[in-house]
Amino acid sequence: MDIDTLYRKEYWEEAIQYPLEKIRGNIDCFGSLYPSPASVSRIYRLIPNEDWTSGFWNGMLWQAYQYSGETVFRDAAERLLPDYQERLRERLHIDTHDLGFLYVLSCKAQFLLTRNRHAYLTALQAADLLMLRYHTKAGIIQAWGDLDDPSQRGRMIIDCLMNLPLLFWAATETGDMRYRAAAESHLRQTRRYIIRNDASTFHTFYFDPESGKAIKGTTAQGYSDSSCWARGQAWGIYGLALNYRYVKDPSMLEDAKRLAEYFLLHLPDDLVCYWDLEFTHGDEDRDSSSAVIAACGLLELSRLLPLVDGDRGRYEVSALRILSSLHEQYTTRAYSGSDGILLHGVYSKPGRNGVDECTVWGDYFYVEALVRVLKHYPLFW
Ligand code: GLY
Repeated sequence: MDIDTLYRKEYWEEAIQYPLEKIRGNIDCFGSLYPSPASVSRIYRLIPNEDWTSGFWNGMLWQAYQYSGETVFRDAAERLLPDYQERLRERLHIDTHDLGFLYVLSCKAQFLLTRNRHAYLTALQAADLLMLRYHTKAGIIQAWGDLDDPSQRGRMIIDCLMNLPLLFWAATETGDMRYRAAAESHLRQTRRYIIRNDASTFHTFYFDPESGKAIKGTTAQGYSDSSCWARGQAWGIYGLALNYRYVKDPSMLEDAKRLAEYFLLHLPDDLVCYWDLEFTHGDEDRDSSSAVIAACGLLELSRLLPLVDGDRGRYEVSALRILSSLHEQYTTRAYSGSDGILLHGVYSKPGRNGVDECTVWGDYFYVEALVRVLKHYPLFW
């Protein structure tokens, strides 16, 4: 696509109509339930607010409201607030670091757009729960599972970069710097141990929570312990850029750039990455969700870099090219029965879960990316 079309407002205004229409249609279908993390034959199962992904549905509703001003989106998102309050109050399915994804895109977004005080307090309570997962000796937030589970104690994952903004925000709102210290420490450990010398990344890394000793990097959803799981790399690019806004350490942008270069060097012709960056051509599955998360990261990075940074424009154009490829070839338009938005996502290839399906986070970040291209709203993160 030529560069003029890539920067045409009408092109992107047309592109966002499809996801808006899908979200509008899904409000009644989903009712008081949430889409499962990944679809089955391009249709989401409907589940209660129990997985790490519920907030992406709220996030889509809030983005749609922010962009269009239509109250149907706001009303639908507001109806879901009691679910998030109950989940915290009753301690339901909260053994996860993804309290960030869950509560930023639901309660914090609601507070930012409507100043709802209950949503504000609920988001702060989620930050308190996330703090309980912080292992002081290792200086990391435990990703998954019960805090006493020996197989999960001391395990951090790169995805958690996206959950740290909740802690930075809580520090700013409350003045309690313990949230900030934990987030900074986790960030430091991620940069030191998860980012490899060649700027690829481990998915997960183990520490001894008692001594704090670093043990080893492994994968959970990637091809192998030594490969580079595409979504992890995408979380890394976007996560570093987002956290830079709170930390303001320029070396973080340098790391984000290194990860971005690695990502861009491992893309196939249509710029939609394979599920693991080990693969650059052939029949392996693509992961549209990693592509769109990386596009959001590249857009944020290009916004944060100084005007004289020689890579800034290239990151912006690369993001637009990825988004255009998704818009042209990866939406569910040809499948009228689908309630998803983006085709060809992968949840967990090793787990044979949600392979070549729609993913609810892929759909969310696609909407976020299109809204970012069209308007200069503050981010929810
Ligand atoms: N955060 C889990 C995933 O990206 O699959």
